[in-house]
Amino acid sequence: MGKDANLIQSHRKDEHVFIAEKLFTEESNNRLNEIKLIPSNLPELSVNDIQSSVELPDFSFKSPFYINAMTGGSERTGILNQQLAEVAAITNTIIATGSQSIALKDPSVAHTFKVLREKNPNGIIFSNLSANATLDQAKKAIDMIDANAIQIHINAAQEIVMPEGEREFYWLKNIETLVNKLEVPVIVKEVGFGMSHETVRKLSDIGVRYVDISGHGGTNFAMIENERRHNKDFSFLRDWGLSTAESLIDTSSFQNNLTIFASGGVRTPLDIVKCLVLGAKSVGLSGTFLHILNKQGQDALTETIFDYQTKIKMLMTLLGVKKITDLTGVRYILSSELQNFKNQKQ
Ligand code: FNR
Repeated sequence: MGKDANLIQSHRKDEHVFIAEKLFTEESNNRLNEIKLIPSNLPELSVNDIQSSVELPDFSFKSPFYINAMTGGSERTGILNQQLAEVAAITNTIIATGSQSIALKDPSVAHTFKVLREKNPNGIIFSNLSANATLDQAKKAIDMIDANAIQIHINAAQEIVMPEGEREFYWLKNIETLVNKLEVPVIVKEVGFGMSHETVRKLSDIGVRYVDISGHGGTNFAMIENERRHNKDFSFLRDWGLSTAESLIDTSSFQNNLTIFASGGVRTPLDIVKCLVLGAKSVGLSGTFLHILNKQGQDALTETIFDYQTKIKMLMTLLGVKKITDLTGVRYILSSELQNFKNQKQ
């Protein structure tokens, strides 16, 4: 890859962070607010009894949320990765890196990703590449940060809005190869447009064991890429995709076939708990944590994560639930619109 092309890609990473922050709103549109959890007025529990860790066959979460994929690839985003990695290490939180393709094309930016492992030597880290990455590229990305798993992002809507984006989307066969040949677990993730049960069925059929449905309602890559376009002529895709709540409802019948993670517009400990009640095993946050890091700094992000860990236990107490796995037994009421969506599920 030429020097100019590398510079353009690095610049794009800075733009993504800048525009994501510019478009960030405190209110998200992921429709989790249309779910009411039924509390227990007699919990018969102490907050100290609550166990909020999540044990999965391949890794465990101290608390049921993680820092989801964001960045790397430029000097500025390398500093963000350094800060995020330090926060992850202090709080014992799993962290995913942003797409490493840029570092495979231009090794001079690999240090902006390697910092994730340097600053978080004992933590669990997820690599990240696109769904057309070759097996060799995936192995290199994993080695680069000694990753414990790899996220493979599927982002057709984002690519379509990017003038320089992909126009050919033949991904399934390649994902199957990655799942079969890599030695670490593969997590197939959206980037904020949600997943339907048809998508999850196809992934389950080829042996995928982890998905992150990353739904609509928070960071919106159609709008981020639209901002970068000369004519900004893709605003009609503003509401594209399934929201986080809709994705979890639509894919619920697959919860026993594979592990479903959720993300997309998650702002509060209550949002996290709602995703877990709907069957997610853990919940990713990108935009919210990036916003706190940008506006209040690294220490504030560390404090926020400790605070979320405590508040999740408080919420579980209010629901009368001692273990994360019991959250799926909590009764909830859907808004009539979400119930209507659920009724129309094929
Ligand atoms: C992202 N996201 C992302 N996802 C991915 O798989 N690879 C990537 O390189 C990136 N890059 C990226 C940059 C920035 C600045 C943000 C904010 C996000 C998408 C992210 O992991 C997540 O799927 C969506 O952002 C939705 O979650 P939030 O942001 O609403 O919590």
